Amino acid sequence: MAPDTASDDTDTATAPPPEREPALRVVPMPSDVNSTGDIFGGWIMSQVDIAGALPAIRLARGRVATVAVNSFVFKQPVLVGDVVSFYAEVVRVGRTSITVDVEVYAERGMPATVVKVTEATLTYVAVGPDRKPRAVRPE
Ligand SMILES: CC(C)(COP(=O)(O)OP(=O)(O)OC[C@H]1O[C@@H](n2cnc3c(N)ncnc32)[C@H](O)[C@@H]1OP(=O)(O)O)[C@@H](O)C(=O)NCCC(=O)NCCS
Repeated sequence: MAPDTASDDTDTATAPPPEREPALRVVPMPSDVNSTGDIFGGWIMSQVDIAGALPAIRLARGRVATVAVNSFVFKQPVLVGDVVSFYAEVVRVGRTSITVDVEVYAERGMPATVVKVTEATLTYVAVGPDRKPRAVRPE
């Protein structure tokens, strides 16, 4: 598959982060790097899943399970020492499911620059104590 175009990368790299508070802010550690010294994609995926679940749990007023990762794009590498912010926004509510967009920005260097590193969309399902789907809103 063709990579993002150069103009696309420039746009995403310079795009300011959302003005709202992030769902999650984390600093990756040297133990989170891959064999080439950048942050392991699986670490980012894990944090995205956690960040996306937070508004879903709030909306569902309880337990949710991740049913699908609908899309996931790593736009720029994440580096050790970056301050990584995860902005999560509910974009669709179904009967039992909640779909959340997560945008990830890394702040690095002095003076600090901010780059958009990842964007993803995940779907969570509200579940009961039996782990079966339940309505997000009372029926
Ligand atoms: C999540 C889980 C409880 C859903 O159970 P299920 O019987 O498959 O549920 P349903 O088929 O009734 O679908 C429930 C909702 O999920 C949605 N859904 C199911 N598969 C989906 C997919 N691949 N993508 C997007 N939405 C999906 C359905 O559209 C439905 O939404 P709606 O009620 O808003 O219309 C079950 O699949 C499960 O336990 N999965 C494992 C979850 C888990 O452990 N996640 C952590 C990672 S290992």
